[in-house]
Amino acid sequence: MKALILSGGKGTRLRPITHTSAKQLVPIANKPILFYGLEAIRDAGISSVGIVVGETANEIKKAVGTGDPWNLNVTYLPQEAPLGLAHAVKISEDYIGSDPFIMYLGDNLLRSGIKEFVIEFQKNRPNAQILLSHVKTPEQFGVAELSGNHVIRLEEKPKQPKSDLALVGVYLFDSTIFNAVKSIKPSKRNELEITDAIQYLIDKKFSVTPHIVNGWWKDTGKLEDLLEANRLVLESIESFNLGHIDSATKVEGRVIFEKGASIKNSIIRGPCIIGEGTQIEDSYIGPFTSIYHHAELKNCEIEHSIVLEYAQIKNIKRIEGSLIGQNAVILQSPSKPSAYRIMVGDSSRVEVP
Ligand code: DAU
Repeated sequence: MKALILSGGKGTRLRPITHTSAKQLVPIANKPILFYGLEAIRDAGISSVGIVVGETANEIKKAVGTGDPWNLNVTYLPQEAPLGLAHAVKISEDYIGSDPFIMYLGDNLLRSGIKEFVIEFQKNRPNAQILLSHVKTPEQFGVAELSGNHVIRLEEKPKQPKSDLALVGVYLFDSTIFNAVKSIKPSKRNELEITDAIQYLIDKKFSVTPHIVNGWWKDTGKLEDLLEANRLVLESIESFNLGHIDSATKVEGRVIFEKGASIKNSIIRGPCIIGEGTQIEDSYIGPFTSIYHHAELKNCEIEHSIVLEYAQIKNIKRIEGSLIGQNAVILQSPSKPSAYRIMVGDSSRVEVP
C-alpha cells in the first residue's frame, strides 16, 4: 500500500499567509499541518509516500526532504497547475502503479489518525473507501448521500446539500480510480474533481464504502478552522519546559516551552506552546495560543491565536482569534499624532476596536 499526499494547490482562503508560503506548512501547535499527515501515514504502517507539489514545491521539499525523520520514503510528484484533486491522482499513476493507496489532502487533520481506516480497507477491499464527517456547513465540502450503508450520490460543494455528511480529505483507492479520473470532465470551477471520479465508480457499480469518522476532523483551509485545529491539538498537550522562566512569571495549566524560550515577568495560561528561542516579557499569553520560534512579544496580551516565526508584537492589548505571519511587526507607535500606521499585505484582514 502506498500513500499520496496532495500538497499543491493555491491556498487562496489563507491569503496573505499563503502568498509567500505553502498552506500545508502553517504550524498547528508549532508543527506544520503536513507533518501530522506524514505521522498518520507512518503510524498506519505505510512507508512509500508520493507528495504532489505545485508552486510551493521547493518549500515543501525543504521541510520534508527525503522523509527520513518519519522513516518514510518520499517521492515528489510535480503537478503543473492545481487542476483538481482527480488531476493530481492522474499524474500520480506511474508512481502508484497497481498498488492500492491512501490519498491524504495535505491541509487536513484527523486527530485519531488513519490506521483504523487502512485496516478496514485492507480487510474489505472495496474499490474505494470514503471517510465522512457530520458538519454544520456541508455546502463548503463534497457531500455524500447515503442509503443505509450505501453511498448513492456525491456532490462537490452543492448549494442545497442533501445531507450534512462532508467528504473528509482522506480516501482509499485501488487502481480502478485511474480509469475514473481519465473519464470525467472538469467541473464548473474548472477542476477535475475527485468527488466526480468517485461518483463515476458508483455509477459503474464499483464498490464504494463509507466510513463515518467519530473523532474530530479539520480542513484547515480557512482561518477559523486553523484556529480551531490549533485549539483541538493544544487541548491534549502535556507540559514540558526546555526554556528559561524567571521567578516573576506565573505559569498556569499545561504549557510547552520549547528549547531556549525565554519568559520574563509574564502570565502564561495554558494550554499553549511557546516556540524555540521565542522571547516573552511583561505579557499575558492566554489559552489556545501557539507562538512559533524566534518571535518576540513585549508588554502585550494575546490568546486563541497563532503567531509565526520571527514575528514581533510590542505594547499591544489585546489580540485574539488571530494569525500573525512570519516576520510581521505589530507595535504601538510612540510618535504623534496617535493614529493607525499600517502596511498590510494583499488580501490581509485587520479588525480594530
Ligand atoms: O477537505 C475536504 C474537502 O477537500 C472535500 O470535502 C472536498 O470534496 C474536496 O474537493 C476538497 O475540497 P477543497 O476545496 O477544500 O480542496 P482544496 O482545493 O483546498 O485542496 C485540498 C488539498 O489538495 C490542498 O492541500 C491543496 C491540494 N491540491 C489541490 C488541488 C485543487 C493539489 O495538490 N492539487 C490540486 O490541483
